[in-house]
Parts: sequence; structure tokens; C-alpha cells
Amino acid sequence: MTKSIEQILQQDQFTKDDIIRLLQSKNEDEKALFAKSSETKLKYVGRNVHFRGLVEFSNICKKDCLYCGIRASNSAVNRYDIADEEILKAAKFAYENKYGSLVLQSGERSDQKFIDRIEKLLKEIKKVSNNELGITISIGEQTKETYQKWFDAGAHRYLLRIESSNKELYNKIHPKNEDHSHETRLKCLKYLQEIGYQTGTGVMIGIPFQTYDDLANDLLFMQKFDIDMVGMGPFIEHDQTPMYQYKDQLMSLNDRFRLTLKMIAVLRIMMKDINIASATALQAIDPLGREKALRIGANIIMPNITPTTERANYLLYQNKPCIDEGADDCTNCMEARINMADGVIGYGEWGDSQHFRKRQNK
Ligand code: 5AD
Ligand code: FES
Repeated sequence: MTKSIEQILQQDQFTKDDIIRLLQSKNEDEKALFAKSSETKLKYVGRNVHFRGLVEFSNICKKDCLYCGIRASNSAVNRYDIADEEILKAAKFAYENKYGSLVLQSGERSDQKFIDRIEKLLKEIKKVSNNELGITISIGEQTKETYQKWFDAGAHRYLLRIESSNKELYNKIHPKNEDHSHETRLKCLKYLQEIGYQTGTGVMIGIPFQTYDDLANDLLFMQKFDIDMVGMGPFIEHDQTPMYQYKDQLMSLNDRFRLTLKMIAVLRIMMKDINIASATALQAIDPLGREKALRIGANIIMPNITPTTERANYLLYQNKPCIDEGADDCTNCMEARINMADGVIGYGEWGDSQHFRKRQNK
């Protein structure tokens, strides 16, 4: 006899089939899933929501992912690279406004000049923030030496999405060349863990050719890899990318949105003490998207503090929210939103993944 959703939700561990059932749940079953994930979140990570001030400091990128708006081949993009002083100003803003942590994100580059620049910047950010600001970086695939250098300079968390744990699917959404290899992505995640970073990964949800089986495997992959942080969001097509040709095969934006919420909810039950970010892409679909994710399981939000002049040029996907607001506006707006989602902002705290601490003490 098949199990009911209630029965599945009483278990502590899920099989792939259980996960698929949960991801396909609707109406009352979906409500039961969200009630359980919300309860799990409150029990294990509490109501605190942590801020990561996001600085998208450059859209110059050597990669050519077939879905991404800032891919190297997109000649319609105005490329920018924010000056170090501006980045430091944003870091100071994050520090003074008690964000606790900063995320530095950019397109991927790995020339020596860039590597040295990031190292210097990390040290300077530590200095201007009295050594207090936590720093997450998200600058793609690098050598182990580079990851180590940046770790030694002060970064302690790294985000590198696997995009999909299914190698065949990964290959379908990336160009077929050495620069876009699933093995390399996996190897990089291993390096990050070995060095001692709090390691974050994630996937896009609703990409062409993706199945429920793939998504269930993605969650099991995160669990097996013992990941500390996760950021996953809906795929949103961009008309200046090759993947746009499959736009008619996609599920509706609303379905991608619901599925992302369910992925977050199932993951929260599976990995109770990790940090889960509420992806900005959720807000591109539903104005209250990020708040909904906080309610059902996410505990991290990344207010954009990139200088406003450049925000409109960092469009990985279309319809991106908050490209006109300044950093101050974002803080006020976030606070109101989080209160609305019944959360409390953990001002001035690093908000480390509790999972990471336990992993370190094992
Ligand atoms: N839709 C949603 N997410 C995207 N990303 C890139 N392009 C898109 C898109 N079109 C995500 C990828 C990448 C992260 C920086 O942005 O998952 O890892
Ligand atoms: Fe790979 Fe942007 S080019 S995610």
C-alpha cells in the first residue's frame, strides 16, 4: 500500500520516492508539508533571519553557461567592474548597519591579477569592519590554491551551485568544453570543504529537461555531501541566452515558484540545522516570494547593496527585483518584510550554519 503524505512526513529520513511524492504534493498535502517544514525550522534554527549584504561587484565573466544573462557571449551586456573603494564603502555600509555578513559575487575570472585583487580586498574588508564582518564569496571555480589564499585572507564561506547533480542534465545546459565540466564543479566543492569553508551549493528549479527524479536526487546529493548552506531558486528564462529556445517547454512561472518552495521545505526537514537562503529569483516571480520562503524553511536573506548605478547590469535572469533601490531602502524594506514573515533579524551576528559547527566538532 502506498504511504500517505502524513505518514511520509512522520519519518526522519526520506527515500527518493518519498521526496518525489512531497515535491508533487498539492492542496492539503502541500499544506501539511509546509506546516512540518515551518515547525522544523522554528525548532532547529528559530525565528532569526540573517542578512548577507550582497555586492555583485562585476559582471565580467569568462563562462558561457547557456542559461545565464551575463554569459561571455552575450554582447548586449554593459560590462562593469566596481572600483575597490566602492566595494569597501558597501562593506562599511553592511558593517555599520549591523548586517553581520557580506557576500561578494561576480562573474567568473581566474587571472592572477584578479586573484590577487580579491585577496587584497578581503583583507581590507576585514580591516574596515574591525575584523567583525563575516565574508562569503561566490566567484565560481578556482584552483585549490586560490581558494586557500582567499580563505587565509578572511573569507570563511563559499557559495558554488552545482546547478544540477545530474551530469547529463548539467551537460545539456552548459557548452560542451573543458571550461564547463561537472567533474570540476564537484572537485571544487570538495576543495572548499577540505579547506574549511562553510560550503554552500544549490540548483536551479524548473530548467528545461529537468525531472522530479533529478530534483529529488539534488536534495539527496546535498545531504550526502553534508553541505552547510543552500541557495536554490527558480530558473527564469532570459531572451539573450541559448536556453530561451526552450521557453515553450517550461512549466509556468507559478509552478516553478511552488516547486522551489517545496524543495526548500523538503530540504529543511531533511537537513534541519543548515542555512537556507531565500533566493532573490523568487521575488522576480512573486513580490512576496522571499517572505514565503522564510515562512516555510529559509533563514537567510541577501539584501542587494551593490551601488545602484550598476544593479541593472547584473541581470542573470529577467525581471530581477530591486534594481532601482539604494542600499538604505533595501534595509528598511527587508526589515518590514521579515517582520511580516514572522521573523526576527539577527542584527550584528554572523549567523553561521549550525550544521557547520557540529560538523567541525565531530
Ligand atoms: N535563472 C535563474 N538563475 C540563474 N542563474 C544563472 N542564470 C539564471 C537564470 N536564468 C543562477 C545560477 C548561478 C547563480 C549565480 O545564478 O544558478 O549559479
Ligand atoms: Fe555561468 Fe553566469 S555564465 S552562471
